Amino acid sequence: MEKLVITGQTPLKGEVTISGAKNAAVAILPATLLIDGVCTIENIPNISDVKISCEILEKLGAKITWNTPNEITIDTRNINTTVAPLDLTRKFRASYYIVGAMLGRKGKIQVGMPGGCKLGARPIDQHIKGFEALGATVEVEKGNITATADKLVGNSVYMDVVSVGATINVMLSAVLAEGTTVIDNAAKEPHIVDVANFLNTMGADIRGAGTDIIKINGVKKLSGNSTYSVVPDQIEAGTFMLAAVASKGDILIKNCITKHLESITAKIIEVGGQVEDYGDSIRVWCDRRPGKANIKTLPYPGFPTDLQPQMGVVLSIAEGTSIINESIWESRFQYTEELNKMGAKITAQGKSAFFEGVDKLYSAPVYSTDLRAGAALIIAGIIAEGETEIYNLEHIDRGYENIEEKFRNLGAKIKRIKE
Ligand code: EPZ
Repeated sequence: MEKLVITGQTPLKGEVTISGAKNAAVAILPATLLIDGVCTIENIPNISDVKISCEILEKLGAKITWNTPNEITIDTRNINTTVAPLDLTRKFRASYYIVGAMLGRKGKIQVGMPGGCKLGARPIDQHIKGFEALGATVEVEKGNITATADKLVGNSVYMDVVSVGATINVMLSAVLAEGTTVIDNAAKEPHIVDVANFLNTMGADIRGAGTDIIKINGVKKLSGNSTYSVVPDQIEAGTFMLAAVASKGDILIKNCITKHLESITAKIIEVGGQVEDYGDSIRVWCDRRPGKANIKTLPYPGFPTDLQPQMGVVLSIAEGTSIINESIWESRFQYTEELNKMGAKITAQGKSAFFEGVDKLYSAPVYSTDLRAGAALIIAGIIAEGETEIYNLEHIDRGYENIEEKFRNLGAKIKRIKE
């Protein structure tokens, strides 16, 4: 069992370089199954979700060479099975991208139902709707998904719900289909654009990614023979921006795309923080107690649900009472119980939480309930009086590369202890 031990009340100061985006990498890796060739992926984050993705690809017949901790070469010419290792695919959410990619490559796949953070029901009905619109048959039973298609034919798919996963998955299944597929009411997150850019680099014909209508003209084959660099992680960058405000620090966040951070920048300015935008890096500082704000999480370009817990830490010590309305997930306020152990005054009811700002937080043993909650608890430990212990680190390690080192380089007194 490991824990993080953080000695608080440290203003974070200095520079941090953002890694490649987790939610792009975990989709680009399965997308390589569509390539009958070899490709190289740079700026890939060295996190456990990426390592599990690579294990699954190798079990399907891919050959993977780690050129550096953040660059891999993948040879997917010899995909020799249509059953993914069910024990691995259950370990995280993004395993469902194997379905879209393998339907396109082989017309058949069996995987375990995806796992991932416990945020409420995480249905896949929109994924299935898309696959069936292209001519696939999908069965979900005994915790496994079995999908088959003699031939995939392009079609129009209207998403009843704006879904990152379903948008990417239908895009994957359409790349090698016959004819044109149009996804309407598509999600517009930066990682969706990154997957489309990756596939186009490898020979696909996808237009409109980043808007709510994506058009995919099916092609015969993806030959690969190219190198692609994963987009910087919008959520990691936002995590450090909010850490600068919560700790009354001053951080230069490097290797990010500030256009992706506009909703976070707006809220930081609203609560009294200051921001200097340099295009591919951004400086955030705050020399006062933050003011209150109301947040409603929305699909991109709205305020991201994946930064809701981190914003919750800022609001827990803000002047006045704030409200967060979590419109994406039914159950993404578990972290507030942990913050209340540290002296916060938060009342979570259904999809809303009320934050009565307190002067400061106090250390306590706390438990990470999901990836972003874990990041929020680290920020809370850095600003709290005393020594905070954080458990269940496996959640954090799924999506943040070298997180304690990055915070330590900004002045945090943080160490990982094996118990
Ligand atoms: C992706 O999850 C991210 N995960 C999540 O980030 C993120 O919170 C979420 O998008 C929203 O931005 C990955 O990319 C691996 P959705 P995903 O499909 O694709 C409903 C993190 O911390 N829905 O956009 O699973 C669903 O219930 C993780 O990095 C359906 O109803 O999310 C939710 O209410 C946590 N039917 C909403 O849509 C479906 O078929 C958005 O879900 C699919 C989704």
